[in-house]
Amino acid sequence: MNKRLVSGITPSGDGSLHIGNYLGAVRQFIELAKSNETYLMVADLHALTTIQDKKQLSANIETLVLNELSLLRGFLTEKEFAKIVFFRQSDVVEHTELQSILNNVTPLGLIKRAHAYKDKLQKDVMEDDINVGLFSYPMLMAADILLYKPDLVPVGKDQKQHVEITRDIAGRFNKIFAKNVFTLPEPYIPEAVAAVLGTDGKRKMSKSLGNIISIFEDEEKIRKQVMGTYTDPTRIHATDPGHLEGNMVFTYLEFFADKTKTDGLKEAYKKGQVADIEVKNYLFESLMKYFTNARKTYKELAANPAAVKKILEDGAGKARAVAAGTMAEVREAVGLVNQYSNTTNHQILPILPIQNKLNQMNGGENISIITIDEFTKVELRVGKVIEATNKERSEKLIRLVVEFGPAFAKSYGEAKRIIFTGVRGFGYTPADFLNKQFFFITNLAPRKMMDEESQGMILAVDGDELPFGQHGPKKPVFVSAEGFSIGAKIR
Ligand code: TRP
Repeated sequence: MNKRLVSGITPSGDGSLHIGNYLGAVRQFIELAKSNETYLMVADLHALTTIQDKKQLSANIETLVLNELSLLRGFLTEKEFAKIVFFRQSDVVEHTELQSILNNVTPLGLIKRAHAYKDKLQKDVMEDDINVGLFSYPMLMAADILLYKPDLVPVGKDQKQHVEITRDIAGRFNKIFAKNVFTLPEPYIPEAVAAVLGTDGKRKMSKSLGNIISIFEDEEKIRKQVMGTYTDPTRIHATDPGHLEGNMVFTYLEFFADKTKTDGLKEAYKKGQVADIEVKNYLFESLMKYFTNARKTYKELAANPAAVKKILEDGAGKARAVAAGTMAEVREAVGLVNQYSNTTNHQILPILPIQNKLNQMNGGENISIITIDEFTKVELRVGKVIEATNKERSEKLIRLVVEFGPAFAKSYGEAKRIIFTGVRGFGYTPADFLNKQFFFITNLAPRKMMDEESQGMILAVDGDELPFGQHGPKKPVFVSAEGFSIGAKIR
């Protein structure tokens, strides 16, 4: 099977993952990621429906990122992990953009029937106390999915309806705009995904119910959680015959422990030949062994925020490249593109990787990326220096009068410009410029130089390295424009 998969986890609760999350979701992602193209997001925008506290949200996101990455890297080889596109939903702006468009092809009734919203209403919450974010949660999730045109969406049972709504929305979009922009994804809910109950043996494992077994907490805390796990309430002495049904310790052993040893313990338990505490100790040991790599990775990643940041930046760049491509199709399909459209703004812009490279090259200093449109606003022209003099009372400046010809005069009302260059310190003299042609930037805002204004800038490139032992800026070398028409624009 080589399919494209998309899924996400919302950083709700406190953002940490417990063994219930592992068995219910992450384990499947790990298995599937080995042989499929996997897009996995931290659905941080979804968390805003319930978490409206800056500190908590940002902490939750960090926690979930660390937890997920530790599991993925703990259970996958380096190569398998490198294939996963792991990113933050909010790093890819196309998610909200598409949600906004999907709102318009989503019938109100469809959303009123959605669980997330209906369940809230049933909990005696007034409609006025439900925010529209919760209501439009399915459209955001549809956008999350449809941007990547996946074949499958692996989710837990509780999310099946959302994937069905996504199919519905995708179908409507394709029909309304008479174009098959979106593929209809299938929900993928592996049979083995048991919604494992919590340590109370009664309710679904959930942080807020306090019935979890953690993965990344200290050993002592996890030991306590294991010791507090529900077993067989009818059993008072270790010699009493024990029951396995509903016994959570044995349920967990099935997933995390050695099969033969577990079977042996089961037999002994039924005959009253082994104490609860022994079985629990074995579960604790098994969990520690099972998650050894993940727990080790967690410590390493927690100590290296730059590495985590890099993974997320790479992921966002890759996700964006795909998402922006789909958005370009969507804009086209709905009629947002016409002869006045600024198409370059909506091209695939994997800006993040380029920005990262630049930042690295410049020792972390930020460089701003500009678009091609922005760059073409720079006016570069061939000019001829008709006067060159040292500027009085200055040690650096050479004052040039530059001729740009009649066409230039038509645009600007004047064929000549006064342009300064501060290069006498490098040994340049006015004679180096006089009667020669160079390239100039001619649409800069004028800049004051002593008692005059510089009305442009001459182009130069960095010269050779300075001689050994000498420090300072490299000598500029001026770019000759000899042989080109005066006033000609570079394009
Ligand atoms: N709503 C999902 C949940 O709470 C998380 C999620 C967000 C998701 N976007 C998604 C799952 C896209 C699958 C695909 O579990």
